[in-house]
Amino acid sequence: MREFDDVLADGVVVRQAQRADLLDVLRIERTCFSEPWPYSAFELFVDEPAFLVAARGNDVLGYVVADVMPNHGNDIGHVKDLAVRDDARGEGLGRQLLVQSLAAMAIDGAAVVKLEVRVSNDPALQLYRSVGFEPARRIPGYYGDDEDAYIMVLDLGEWQSN
Ligand SMILES: CC(C)(COP(=O)(O)OP(=O)(O)OC[C@H]1O[C@@H](n2cnc3c(N)ncnc32)[C@H](O)[C@@H]1OP(=O)(O)O)[C@@H](O)C(=O)NCCC(=O)NCCS
Repeated sequence: MREFDDVLADGVVVRQAQRADLLDVLRIERTCFSEPWPYSAFELFVDEPAFLVAARGNDVLGYVVADVMPNHGNDIGHVKDLAVRDDARGEGLGRQLLVQSLAAMAIDGAAVVKLEVRVSNDPALQLYRSVGFEPARRIPGYYGDDEDAYIMVLDLGEWQSN
């Protein structure tokens, strides 16, 4: 299991997700999203190097799910899901999870990373912009309730050189 050296404030560690984390992850997912992923979707990503949790002991405070798809030598990372428990927000965990998942995808050979985000999701948009993602296009009615999405993209080579 990949674990990162940095122990964050209050003994929080960012590490690869394990099957034992999934019920906590699901609980957070259900409080954060109107169209939450089912348990079976998270199960598919256990063992992915960029499926990470921020945890204090066994207590999961947040998670990121990301993977890398081959693309003719220009592999594409995809941040598929990111959430921090309501009572743990604003302490830098979302940023740590995102940054560590980018590092994991870089190790796995991704050249660029993309993600989708609701156009109304200011906290997430601010976070993604501050890490270096830029909006590439807007997809009308992307979500089930018809809200538009921005596709945001980050060049991992540039990100690593900064
Ligand atoms: C988006 C989310 C993951 C951020 O997690 P977090 O741990 O609170 O974020 P951090 O404390 O690491 O903050 C990092 C940056 O995000 C932005 N940010 C976080 N909360 C914000 C808020 N309420 N308003 C505006 N910007 C915000 C800021 O740029 C912040 O940087 P700063 O602290 O230097 O100002 C969290 O709000 C969340 O879980 N939201 C619900 C789920 C969700 O929308 N996920 C994204 C789906 S695309």
